[in-house]
Amino acid sequence: MRLAGKNALITGAGRGIGKAFAKAYLAEGATVAIADINLEVAKAAALELGDGAYAVHLDVRDQGSIDKAVAAVVAARGSLDIVINNAALFDLAPITEITRDSYDRLFSVNVAGTLFMMQAAAKQMIAQGKGGKIINMASQAGRRGEALVAVYCATKAAVISMTQSAGLNLIEHGINVNAIAPGVVDGEHWDGVDALFAKHEGLKPGQKKEQVGAAVPYGRMGRAEDLTGMAVFLASDDADYIVAQTYNVDGGNWMS
Ligand SMILES: NC(=O)c1ccc[n+]([C@@H]2O[C@H](COP(=O)([O-])OP(=O)(O)OC[C@H]3O[C@@H](n4cnc5c(N)ncnc54)[C@H](O)[C@@H]3O)[C@@H](O)[C@H]2O)c1
Repeated sequence: MRLAGKNALITGAGRGIGKAFAKAYLAEGATVAIADINLEVAKAAALELGDGAYAVHLDVRDQGSIDKAVAAVVAARGSLDIVINNAALFDLAPITEITRDSYDRLFSVNVAGTLFMMQAAAKQMIAQGKGGKIINMASQAGRRGEALVAVYCATKAAVISMTQSAGLNLIEHGINVNAIAPGVVDGEHWDGVDALFAKHEGLKPGQKKEQVGAAVPYGRMGRAEDLTGMAVFLASDDADYIVAQTYNVDGGNWMS
């Protein structure tokens, strides 16, 4: 049990990758706050995942909600030791069709949400005086631009950059900040991505998934479970000497 006695909070853990992370952390002995804007989905996930999992309402766009979620974990479990900034939104459009609304929505969740959740977690961890682990969800999208994905790519590049700055700033408190950059991971998120590509590239439903899966050197799209090993490792004592890094877990899509 590599995370025994640790209390984690995972944003956007009601479904998808965050939910798989929660399952893996529970199996390693941690407790996990399933913190999601959709409380019903978070409650259902916590019920399904069982002992040690509990739902917390969280909107990462709202500072009051962030502060309450951190306080809820401390009230329930006595400390906050691990945070995964996993909640994010996706959108795509050609440059000439990007709207201010889309830009604001993505930056408020993916960038400001990650930054101010990191800040709240860091304040709590510093007050506890025993360090901690913060893991941010970046993406291969943050490594380079994509013709139709300017805004989302920019938010994930910002996550990589903030991981570097926060990692350097917080290591003096024994807080490790690192990130995971997945490639293409099948699930409800990618159902939406596929539909958007279908609209803008004139593809049939499912066609974009087939294309991106075939292009992965490993030979298929990722599954949420492909990422859990890295998430457990980065939250464990084995990662104490790892600072400000972003790890690609993408079947070989990107090398850096
Ligand atoms: N799926 C992929 O192919 C892929 C690839 C690279 C990176 N990622 C990243 O991995 C992470 C998880 O992706 P996923 O595929 O599981 O996404 P997902 O869309 O399935 O899940 C996102 C979760 O975040 C929650 N959420 C949305 N807005 C929120 C808010 N304001 N406050 C709190 N919660 C909120 C949603 O309710 C949902 O449960 C994201 O950061 C995503 O950008 C995913």
